[in-house]
Amino acid sequence: MLEAQPAQIAEDKFSIHNLVTREPRAGLAEDVRRGLATKPKRFLPKYFYDELGSQLFEAICLLPEYYLTRAENDILTRYADDIVAEVHGEITLIEMGSGSASKTRLIIEALLRKQPDLLFIPVDISASALDSSSRILLQSYPQLSIEAYAGDYFAGLAELEKTTRARTLALFLGSNISNFDPDEALKFLRALRQVLHAGDALLLGADLKKDRATLEAAYNDALGVTAAFNLNVLARINRELGGSFDLRGFQHHAFYNEELGRVEIYIESTRDQTVSIGQLEMEVQFGKGEQIHTENSYKYALSDIANLAAETGFRRASTWLDSDERFSSNLLLAV
Ligand code: TRP
Repeated sequence: MLEAQPAQIAEDKFSIHNLVTREPRAGLAEDVRRGLATKPKRFLPKYFYDELGSQLFEAICLLPEYYLTRAENDILTRYADDIVAEVHGEITLIEMGSGSASKTRLIIEALLRKQPDLLFIPVDISASALDSSSRILLQSYPQLSIEAYAGDYFAGLAELEKTTRARTLALFLGSNISNFDPDEALKFLRALRQVLHAGDALLLGADLKKDRATLEAAYNDALGVTAAFNLNVLARINRELGGSFDLRGFQHHAFYNEELGRVEIYIESTRDQTVSIGQLEMEVQFGKGEQIHTENSYKYALSDIANLAAETGFRRASTWLDSDERFSSNLLLAV
């Protein structure tokens, strides 16, 4: 009988650099302490993505209301060859926030139709996601080698700045840019521009401004998966920091703030209550209706993207839209 062999990955094909220096739980503890002591209370979006949170996000991507992932897939399926044709020469591929890297495959395949082999450099906060997605990619594409960086974006970019590489295409897909405030988006794109040379390119995914009903449905799905994803942050604090959050005393709340062009996401206390967090030796009061801000998801007009590019050392060279014109993939050329 033939048994599946655990695939051996040659060492020269795969390396992973761990840039997470602090004990990860210390980061969570410090940030939760600070976030609950400020007014209004807030958590950082990166803490959504523990094991369960990452799985819930994968489930969000399958929801009928959450059109973003399907729209971007639609674009990359149809236009990957056109996209990579705009970058000349033998290309190295970087991806910031690669996650499960499923959309990346479409770009990798387009590149491998153009060139015999490919170096892929993914940067992601989750070392486990990097490890598993890299192994799967290497099994699918023998022409690929991977140099992965586990850490936050800025740590990854600081590392990449120390090395040189061939013509580069960088990917920042999904709605990753949407979690940055305008000033953070500028800072991030400038840091990314620093690791590129003139003629290199960035493929930037950006969800478009649109009607309120469509946007609000995308962040308030009928099945309640987004609510579970949001409230999982409280469950995570219970699990990892000895918190006493009663999840039934809190609810998910999301709405489109049209003036600021963003969907705002909150956890709202449904009653007056006190919560203790053992490892922080902290007691926190919540009034009925009090909110914890968990994320903003900024929406872009095509002119916003052109301006962002122009302010950060890029030029918006081409834009592709899905058939419903809800989402955009933008090729920014480093100038
Ligand atoms: N950043 C993604 C987005 O803006 C992730 C996301 C989807 C999200 N649904 C959410 C984040 C609900 C917080 C709450 O689309």
